[in-house]
Amino acid sequence: MAAHILLLVLLSLTSTLIHAYDPSPLQDICVADLKSAVFVNGRVCKDPKLAKADDFFFEGLDKPGNTSNNVGSAVTTVFVDQMAGLNTLGISLVRIDYAPYGETSPHTHPRATEILTVLEGTLYVGFVLSNQNNNTLISKVLNKGDVFVFPIGLIHFQANIGHIPAIAIAAFNSQNPGIITIANSVFGSNPPISDKVLAKAFQVDKKVIDYLEAQFWVNP
Ligand SMILES: *[C@@H]1O[C@H](CO)[C@@H](O)[C@H](O)[C@H]1NC(C)=O
Ligand SMILES: *[C@@H]1O[C@H](CO)[C@@H](O)[C@H](O)[C@H]1NC(C)=O
Repeated sequence: MAAHILLLVLLSLTSTLIHAYDPSPLQDICVADLKSAVFVNGRVCKDPKLAKADDFFFEGLDKPGNTSNNVGSAVTTVFVDQMAGLNTLGISLVRIDYAPYGETSPHTHPRATEILTVLEGTLYVGFVLSNQNNNTLISKVLNKGDVFVFPIGLIHFQANIGHIPAIAIAAFNSQNPGIITIANSVFGSNPPISDKVLAKAFQVDKKVIDYLEAQFWVNP
């Protein structure tokens, strides 16, 4: 009996602890009204009577993204802004194209875990554990058909190590995972972070920071 009560207490504790993800829906559908000027956690729902099949539809993920940029990758997002029907469902998808030797530079998704499947090519992928875990790098080379998961919030990357283009599909447990590209946030912030602060953080001369801050940081 005491063991049962203890189990119940533990279960109720853990079930209250797993709320760090998108909240659960309170109705069948809540198609985002992308034009609403009201700010809520997520998007305002439009009248369910006005919902159409197209709210739950996206086309064109068969088409490659344009990887002609300085990192050689393109991410085609199917987040709530592209598919209004995703609102409150806690899920989304991307297609990622990589030019030969292109990459998605180290970045993090503040609101989602990512699970990635390689459709074409060979990717070197990895994520880094937090300071508490000694910044351990967990990395692997993936081939066509391989699947890898990047835990929520951790810094990760994917790099095409092949001389042919690579393609991946990745899913997220958020309608709006968010993308924070580390280099862009640190060196490309607007306005720039003081070079004094970054020189100390990176243990380099301020000139190196000024050089980095002067680069053209484009969000992939
Ligand atoms: C791809 O992007 C580059 C750089 O922005 C641009 O010059 C080029 O026209 C684009 N190609 C296509 C097919 O859209
Ligand atoms: C932390 O990382 C250092 C350097 O790689 C390594 O020597 C050490 O064994 C690691 N410690 C733990 C607890 O993982």
